[in-house]
Amino acid sequence: MDKTPVKHEIIQKYLEQLRIGDPGKASIREIVALINLIEEESKVKFIRMEMGVPGLPAAKVGVEAEIKALQSGVASVYPMMDGIKPLKSEASRFIRQFMDIDIDPASCIPTSGAMQGTFSALLVAGNVDKKKDTTLFLDPGFPVQKQQMTVMGHKYESFDVFDFRGEKLRAKIESYLAEGNINSMVYSNPNNPSWICFTEEELQIIGELATKYDVIVMEDLAYFGMDFRKDLYTPGVPPYQPTVAKYTDHYILFISASKIFSYAGQRCAIMAISNSLWNRQYENLQARFGSKPFGFTIVMQVLYALSSGITHSTQHALTAMLKAASDGEFNFIEDVKEYGRKAKIMKDLFVDNGFIIVYEKDGDEPIADGFYFTVGYPGMTGGELLANLLHYGISAITLKNTGSEKEGLRACVSHVKRAQFDDLENRLKLFNENFG
Ligand SMILES: Cc1ncc(COP(=O)(O)O)c(C=O)c1O
Repeated sequence: MDKTPVKHEIIQKYLEQLRIGDPGKASIREIVALINLIEEESKVKFIRMEMGVPGLPAAKVGVEAEIKALQSGVASVYPMMDGIKPLKSEASRFIRQFMDIDIDPASCIPTSGAMQGTFSALLVAGNVDKKKDTTLFLDPGFPVQKQQMTVMGHKYESFDVFDFRGEKLRAKIESYLAEGNINSMVYSNPNNPSWICFTEEELQIIGELATKYDVIVMEDLAYFGMDFRKDLYTPGVPPYQPTVAKYTDHYILFISASKIFSYAGQRCAIMAISNSLWNRQYENLQARFGSKPFGFTIVMQVLYALSSGITHSTQHALTAMLKAASDGEFNFIEDVKEYGRKAKIMKDLFVDNGFIIVYEKDGDEPIADGFYFTVGYPGMTGGELLANLLHYGISAITLKNTGSEKEGLRACVSHVKRAQFDDLENRLKLFNENFG
């Protein structure tokens, strides 16, 4: 390890300074802080793959609409709690155009990022029935949603879907739901971190079981349309973004603008609650929050208490982006395909240098190239691999951090520049020479 691009002492110094005992267990933000310090002292520019931030400019149509809205004076006016009318109808239309699903504008609610949406939905779902006090995560998953559970003091269970794809998923999920304590199931599709996409067969299983056991499905579509194996952008024409909504009416969809419109900084998303769940009355919600209807409780009790609506100008931005997409004037999917092209090249560089792709297939098909991919190195745990790669100026997070049972890392392509590919290749070669 003498001749690595980054000196061991520098890494050790900052691990100690930040009190990170094991980088394999560090949170994403801890790794970010660590690499900032190491980069500064070592002068080695890292291949930074730890954080899922958009690497593209914000959608112009949104920025322009937001500036216009600010200039027209919306900043001084409280927006309606459940969103401005044009946004609600454009959200409903977007869902119809790109998913072939009907959700009334009334139950399309803007939230401050999907994060606020999942927080409020998990909070209410956790209180619909006293016996159902637990959420089931279909992992691997986005670690911050677990943090939300911890913050709320809610219970959760989880399992890694790796060994339970296809029909095997049914018995595995059913083994949890049959216990009678699960109120909701959560997953992202495409999946952060593994970039697997559930097949229609799997979505059908999830939907059928949700109906059978009266469990709410929370489908996190932060990477809407980004399964680039199919072209999912032609408004009103198949193929559509696959969804559990085809198979149950007991669901909530979270559509974030952060990645698909590169609008992460403005914190906006749509939480779309199925028409039947929106209107459903729960006795226990009355006892806990003072109102029975699921939708009303989320908006008028929880979101009201959290932030009383989302930034007024940002709602205009989101309206404009959704409208332009549905009108066929803004091919947002084409704009983000660069992530897939970069992933293909980067995955090849890893595989050519002795690494393996951990989550590899959906059914019989190789997974798509997209925002994230997963890598492992034979004989190393995820934690060891990360600790070793830091010496080569490469950073990521471990899969164990995401509820995965597998040894390996999640790599995010968004912040790696094409100009860094040569460095990546040279560093991986050296790594493989030293460890292979
Ligand atoms: C699966 C998943 N859900 C939710 C989010 C957060 O979305 P937002 O920025 O809209 O809060 C992310 C961001 O990385 C994500 O990967």
